[in-house]
Amino acid sequence: MTTKLDIRPFWDISYGIYAITSIKDDKYNAKISNTVTQVTEYSPLLTISVNKHSLTHEYIEHSNIFGISILEKTCPINIIDLLGFKSGREVDKLKNLNYEFGQGLCPLITDYSLSIIEAEVINSVDLNTHTLFIAKATSSKHLKEGDPMTFADYTKLHNGVMSERSPIPTLKYGDSIYIKHGNICKPAK
Ligand SMILES: Cc1cc2nc3c(=O)[nH]c(=O)nc-3n(C[C@H](O)[C@H](O)[C@H](O)COP(=O)(O)O)c2cc1C
Repeated sequence: MTTKLDIRPFWDISYGIYAITSIKDDKYNAKISNTVTQVTEYSPLLTISVNKHSLTHEYIEHSNIFGISILEKTCPINIIDLLGFKSGREVDKLKNLNYEFGQGLCPLITDYSLSIIEAEVINSVDLNTHTLFIAKATSSKHLKEGDPMTFADYTKLHNGVMSERSPIPTLKYGDSIYIKHGNICKPAK
């Protein structure tokens, strides 16, 4: 049996918007993510789901470390465009951004960020299109007071447009997903 899923309800789930950084040797990269979750309270563990086609995935797999910058609500859309719609394969995304270092080697973006966290991968789960990285926080710093940007704030800024300029295929308003035996499939004509 094929199940048709409307993607709109998934966009009503409340998410934050984060800048994720990682490193490979002496190279840095960053992307936008809405899938950072703190999953344990004491000695905090975090999860993040990362698309396997992204350069950031390659960097996290290589170095096992990533940085999280919790973006503020007033973060300009051009920053999200740069980090979330371009690949580090085409552009040096950190060139004009300020960042600092925590305990380790991963740059942590400080521009438009309320807080920064550095994390080390301790496990991962293959999700077919994505990898779910499970990581322990190795350093954290609160930078300033403010309101964090939510996914709802972001969709209002972007009028619900997620996808057209993305280097990786993504879903847009009105799209449906068809699932058969747990796998995404094309709808039967
Ligand atoms: C609002 C928003 C949320 C996103 N969330 C994720 C996410 O959780 N995981 C992911 O892999 N990509 C996510 N992306 C897409 C990446 O940021 C995008 O594919 C980026 O261009 C990848 O860059 P890279 O190839 O330099 O790593 C998101 C993009 C936007 C605009």
